[in-house]
Amino acid sequence: MARQRRTALVTGWVAPTAGLLRCVAHESAYGRVMCHTPPHREPCVTKRPLSGLLPTEVGIGRGTSRFQRTMSPTSPIDPVRFREVIGHFPTGVAIVTAQGADGPAGLTTNAVTSLSLDPVLLIVCFDNRSRTLPIVRECGRFAVNILGADHRELALLFASKRIAAEKFAAVTHTVDHGVPVLDDALAWAVCDVEAMHPGGDHTIGVGRVTAVGHATSGDPLVFYRGDWQRLHELPPA
Ligand SMILES: Cc1cc2nc3c(=O)[nH]c(=O)nc-3n(C[C@H](O)[C@H](O)[C@H](O)COP(=O)(O)O)c2cc1C
Repeated sequence: MARQRRTALVTGWVAPTAGLLRCVAHESAYGRVMCHTPPHREPCVTKRPLSGLLPTEVGIGRGTSRFQRTMSPTSPIDPVRFREVIGHFPTGVAIVTAQGADGPAGLTTNAVTSLSLDPVLLIVCFDNRSRTLPIVRECGRFAVNILGADHRELALLFASKRIAAEKFAAVTHTVDHGVPVLDDALAWAVCDVEAMHPGGDHTIGVGRVTAVGHATSGDPLVFYRGDWQRLHELPPA
């Protein structure tokens, strides 16, 4: 009751609405573009149940409704709330590829960051359920293919659970330094696996960069607040 009364007062708290469904694919942490599970073949906006969401409060100590704060510091942070918050950090989008015994494999990722210049290292975070991860472990190499603004469909395809052959039928690639490099990538880096560290339900892959390249023009694809964006069309927060 107290929760429901408060929803009327606190705009950051979503009213508990009956009938919202859990979408299996949305158990992953990548926002509403993720659903490829039948019957949701297309990007879907299915919501998960709201039970378990932490209450949020607007404008604590800031005198403005621009800020939302999760209230209960002793409760664990709800993963959906965390995804919503961390989604305010815009990222590029990449397809990470590897060459398996049965052919190329790859997945869409936005958890990529540079790590070190001496030596030159980068990080990719792999979902432990990814089918690409064991192939990366096996071959000890991977490539990060940074996508351009026109690659939304490709990003969706590589975020799906379609078989690798179907993913790679949609794009041409060249095997470079033992890994598939996508011909249309805006930029790419080939890496030897330097280390793999456990990170909750993900594995942090540290790659030692052995080859790089980039296109001479083109805008990147951007992922922001659970959706694809172009640099010049970011919506207001
Ligand atoms: C925007 C976006 C970012 C993603 N980031 C990651 C990521 O950083 N790591 C990861 O393992 N999966 C990530 N995924 C999910 C994978 O692309 C998805 O689980 C894919 O089906 C894995 O393919 P695979 O099982 O063939 O390896 C992301 C998906 C999207 C749409």
